[in-house]
Amino acid sequence: MIITKKLIHDYLKKDDEGNIIGRTRALDAVDLDVKAGEFVAILGHNGSGKSTLAKHINALLFPTGGTVEVDGMDTTDESHLWDVRQEAGMVFQDPDNQIIGQVVEEDVGFGPENLGVPTKEIWERVEESLRVVGMYEYRKKSPNHLSGGQKQRVSIAGVIAMHPKCIIFDEPTAMLDPSGRKEVIRAWRRRSTPTRSMSWTRGGSPCRGRRARSSPAWRSSRR
Ligand SMILES: Nc1ncnc2c1ncn2[C@@H]1O[C@H](COP(=O)(O)OP(=O)(O)OP(=O)(O)O)[C@@H](O)[C@H]1O
Ligand SMILES: [Mg+2]
Repeated sequence: MIITKKLIHDYLKKDDEGNIIGRTRALDAVDLDVKAGEFVAILGHNGSGKSTLAKHINALLFPTGGTVEVDGMDTTDESHLWDVRQEAGMVFQDPDNQIIGQVVEEDVGFGPENLGVPTKEIWERVEESLRVVGMYEYRKKSPNHLSGGQKQRVSIAGVIAMHPKCIIFDEPTAMLDPSGRKEVIRAWRRRSTPTRSMSWTRGGSPCRGRRARSSPAWRSSRR
């Protein structure tokens, strides 16, 4: 499902003219083979490259050397870029950087909308995934009024609604208190099926996975 071979990632430092003046090797020949249905935890100290690896699996970064394959697709193949991003959903450390909708159900619907899912099915997916994470009763609320753990559960619902084959969690509980952590872990456990791969890094990097839109057309079909 996820295969990396001798994966190398160098972050380059450039001067104002674009000349390379330094490099940091974040990943050095990483081999990884995650099968469908496996749960893999990646542990490491700060700066050891966990977030960098996670971003490669979601095609947010590309190899300096070696290869990354997600469900048979090479992440450097531009024709598969969006397929890779759909198949490998990502939940980041900071829920505030992932929630883009004004209303919970709208936020969860952005992903399927961007995938071109028909309106009726968007509603079905929004309901299903909010129920999975125990946030259905909050569907009409503003994300600004939710706790950190609740926001993170909405982020997970947003990823689930895209029907990915694997979900990558990059320290999704790092910014939460113990009860928020329990909420997120419970939401994740409910989603952990034998056919879905999960990887969880422990030891975060805020980033935005989905595109912001102000008023999605599908929402006006049911209020
Ligand atoms: N955007 C960047 N530009 C330059 N160097 C970077 C960048 N992001 C990360 N690095 C460097 O790459 C290395 C790996 O960083 P990464 O964020 O992947 O580690 P991590 O294991 O996720 O750490 P943490 O536990 O702190 O989240 C570190 O040395 C870091 O300083
Ligand atoms: Mg990190």
